[in-house]
Amino acid sequence: MRSRIDFNSNWLFEGTDKVTLPHTAVELPFAYFDERAYQRKFTYEKRFVADPAWAGREVSLCFDGAMANAKVRLNGTEIAAHADGYTPFEARLTGKLKSGGNIVTVIVDGSENPDIPPFGGVIDYLTYAGIYREVWLKVTAPVAIANVKIETPDALAATRKVTVAVDIANPEAQPLSGKITATLCDPAGMAIASTTAALDSDKALLVLDGLAGIALWDIDTPMLYEMVLSLETEHGSDRTLTRFGFRDIAFTPKGFLLNGRRLKLLGLDRHQSYPYSGYGLGRAAQERDVEILKNELRVNIVRTSHYPQSPWFLDKCDELGLLVLEEIPGWQHIGGARWKAEAVENVKRMITRDWNHPSIVTWGVRINESRDDHDFYAETNAMARSLDTTRPTCGVRNFPESEFLEDVYTMNDFIDGDHKELGGNRPKVPLRTPREVTGLDRDVPYLVTEFGGHTYPTKSYDQEQRQAEHVSRYLGVIDAAYGNDNISGTIGWCAFDYNTHKDFGSGDRICHHGVMDMFREPKFAAYVYKSQSDPERGVVLEPVTFWARGERNVGGVLPLIVLTNCDEIEFRYGDNPPKRFTPDRAAYPNLPHAPVVIDRHHFTEDELGEWGMFWEDGYFAGYVNGEKVAERHFAADPVATALTLVADKESIGESEDVRLVVRALDQAGNKLPFLFEPVAIAIEGPAILFGPDLVPLRGGAAGFWLRSTGTGTITASVTSAALGTTRISIAAERETAS
Ligand code: GAL
Repeated sequence: MRSRIDFNSNWLFEGTDKVTLPHTAVELPFAYFDERAYQRKFTYEKRFVADPAWAGREVSLCFDGAMANAKVRLNGTEIAAHADGYTPFEARLTGKLKSGGNIVTVIVDGSENPDIPPFGGVIDYLTYAGIYREVWLKVTAPVAIANVKIETPDALAATRKVTVAVDIANPEAQPLSGKITATLCDPAGMAIASTTAALDSDKALLVLDGLAGIALWDIDTPMLYEMVLSLETEHGSDRTLTRFGFRDIAFTPKGFLLNGRRLKLLGLDRHQSYPYSGYGLGRAAQERDVEILKNELRVNIVRTSHYPQSPWFLDKCDELGLLVLEEIPGWQHIGGARWKAEAVENVKRMITRDWNHPSIVTWGVRINESRDDHDFYAETNAMARSLDTTRPTCGVRNFPESEFLEDVYTMNDFIDGDHKELGGNRPKVPLRTPREVTGLDRDVPYLVTEFGGHTYPTKSYDQEQRQAEHVSRYLGVIDAAYGNDNISGTIGWCAFDYNTHKDFGSGDRICHHGVMDMFREPKFAAYVYKSQSDPERGVVLEPVTFWARGERNVGGVLPLIVLTNCDEIEFRYGDNPPKRFTPDRAAYPNLPHAPVVIDRHHFTEDELGEWGMFWEDGYFAGYVNGEKVAERHFAADPVATALTLVADKESIGESEDVRLVVRALDQAGNKLPFLFEPVAIAIEGPAILFGPDLVPLRGGAAGFWLRSTGTGTITASVTSAALGTTRISIAAERETAS
């Protein structure tokens, strides 16, 4: 049998610090830093003793990801090198281990190596440096299972089939004979079918057919099955578990189909970066981002812009039912022959790593927003199709009439930002039609992969009016996509603000393009997404206002957009009689849940006169089927009242990252967007804090991540001069095998 040994602890970093992986080589400030700080070499070293039980077995060190140009040495001799920073690699230790102590040295180089993607030009994101994903030791029999590809070719048939293609690892070219058994387990873990085949080469294909009673994987019911593979040869045995799902996908000229049902895709782009720690947060942070996308933003698709992301992230997408567009590393620039060969390899590495994820619906095989390059993209497409016939390819471009070599035409359509009122070239249109973009005389599968972003950067602490315009733009584009059956959906730029190079963003090394800030705290635009879900998933009632009389230019709060999935809302100003409003279907005819827009014409001059003299409280109530389901109060005289501290989890493992969010609230429980109060963070117990321990509130909130360093009670406290101290406890517990 194989074993997987955790290899993340006790690395000596740069000869001085003891660190645990995942790790970022340089912890960066929040903003205004020199991004060259991490663009150099770093050394990690780990000493370990080879277990005598490994004798006669295959032993490899597996790196899930290291940025970048990793070189691995064992006892001073280089044994592996891997340039790409986003895909896994192995260093084979078999036959090279000393019986006493051994030293593994890993040198990574954060310099932007122009020979490999995404480097060579400018890039609107940072790539950081370090061994930023897990490392583990794999010990197997000399002949073992190398990789498994599971396909469900007829997932919609009455009885279903699953094919299991197995690659056998046989590094010493041993004579091969034996047998391999595939056992299918249902979501409850019960074995429901099994087949055995004789093994006589380094490839095997097993088929389980005629399967009845199989549940489909879908976004609301992400049923996951498991394939257990057992290999028996004269060299020993091996066993692997692979999760997968039965589901059917199709991108058609009339939209996207999941299990034969039309599903309008509504999603966001995600960078895998975090403030301070860059790429270096582990499993829990990756998983939490999926929970945020699925449950807080309630989107149905995410694009892993612009590179393959953490396996933990993808696993969680499978578990929660969040569709994924995954793409190869790159940003606009295409390099020379060697660079292109590496990009083609990246297609292979991405697909062979991730082909069993039911959540992944298409492979992005172009360098994001690069120019056309026929031979290059013919090759990336051919590579993808040769490896995976079950998923369409796509390739993200940003100009019309680009050569269409893929299966899905994916377009970053920023036309909304190019309208005359902004000094642009066009009357205002939220999206172009697919034919206008493709230039083709036929409809093809078409998906918008970015909009928004740099055309309307918006900070969490920006003026209300700007935030309302930000919201309007999202509403307009998404409404247009819902209104056009030829558009499979939209993926907006982007989920979370991110650190970037000096060439982009606000000069502060941040692109404020997220519907959430870097701490994943929502801006108003986040509720555009959330409010598109049915109220059964949680009622949304989010008036786009700070409820202040003088915040907007000239003043007042009208027109007031209320993002909601209620079918009616009640609004009251002070003690005046309440008024009822329904969603603005005239302005947004296609959205699942149009917002309510309250404007001057809804009031008489007398009523508006009431707003004139004194600024009063605001009150909103949401109704679904005539029943009051939500209320919001806004204080006319907000005062700093409470400092709250919330952790994503109250109990974590012994080396787990957890996010905490601090919010300053007024007496009505609303955030105080302009309270730029310093907050001191103190941590007691077995944990380290990432980032500084004195931070400002931004947009009424701040966030930070902790990593537990053992078991016990962690106490986190936040203190501000105006609001005193708030503390919470988190239990760090020994992990139980899951
Ligand atoms: C796109 C690009 C993204 C990001 C975005 C900002 O052109 O693909 O990576 O830079 O613009 O709006």
